[in-house]
Amino acid sequence: MQINETIAVVTGGASGMGAATARFLLEKGAKVAILDLNEAGLKTLAAQLDVLPIVCDVTREDSALAAFEELEAKLGRPSVLVNCAGICPAQRVVGKEGPMPLEAFSRVIDINLIGSFNILRLAAAAMSSRPEPFNSSGERGVIINTASVAAYEGQIGQAAYSASKGAIVAMTLPIARELARFGIRVMTIAPGLVQTPMMAGMPQEVQDSLARQVPFPKRLARPSEFAQLVGQIIENEMLNGEVIRLDGAIRMQEK
Ligand SMILES: NC(=O)c1ccc[n+]([C@@H]2O[C@H](COP(=O)([O-])OP(=O)(O)OC[C@H]3O[C@@H](n4cnc5c(N)ncnc54)[C@H](O)[C@@H]3O)[C@@H](O)[C@H]2O)c1
Repeated sequence: MQINETIAVVTGGASGMGAATARFLLEKGAKVAILDLNEAGLKTLAAQLDVLPIVCDVTREDSALAAFEELEAKLGRPSVLVNCAGICPAQRVVGKEGPMPLEAFSRVIDINLIGSFNILRLAAAAMSSRPEPFNSSGERGVIINTASVAAYEGQIGQAAYSASKGAIVAMTLPIARELARFGIRVMTIAPGLVQTPMMAGMPQEVQDSLARQVPFPKRLARPSEFAQLVGQIIENEMLNGEVIRLDGAIRMQEK
């Protein structure tokens, strides 16, 4: 699929990798809507870029439905979804104050996993109803989820986060298989350590220590490198049903 013929939805688009992806796709000629809870962040980005900002809580059915109605009315039927909305809190299963509250575990699953699926199902429905495919191979859409290397090597404190990202990895193939008959591809990117506001929340020495663990290149990834991979996935129609690590070969240690 050519990027300049797409209408793309990017969740978590107000910040970090989502914002970098929105910028990249716009530069390549796509029409882009960014969905995020952070209204102020949406406004700031929309003042800089020609994006459609939509306030949306990805965990809520009504909010997501309203976002898709607005998107289709203002931009048209989406052909690309990039799911970036997510949170990354760390908490031990048994901490100083006792067992991890169940609500804390559920919240991570709710936003990272159920939120991704909520938007994915609406995007897939919209894409599959496109009467004519884009090209002779029958492509109707591309869906890209964001997991994490924590799906494979979660650290202490990442039980909920790793569970949410592992589930995203696990659902990639069955959804790709199901949507193949519509010409919709489903891929997942599993980033390692990326220099975004999420990462900036960690103390500098933790960031430096993490960067030293990356075999090559010895640094955190740039959000633009995630966006670049999104572009390659959109354009290369043989990429389907797979998870790509974007991590400089890091295999995270236990903490
Ligand atoms: N930064 C990293 O090192 C890293 C590594 C691996 C995976 N990831 C994943 O990449 C994705 C993007 O992360 P980032 O680093 O760009 O983070 P970020 O914090 O910069 O951006 C995440 C965005 O998601 C939004 N969001 C959170 N909850 C939401 C909800 N319920 N509805 C709508 N929007 C919501 C936030 O408002 C924010 O704008 C996340 O899924 C994260 O888990 C990040």
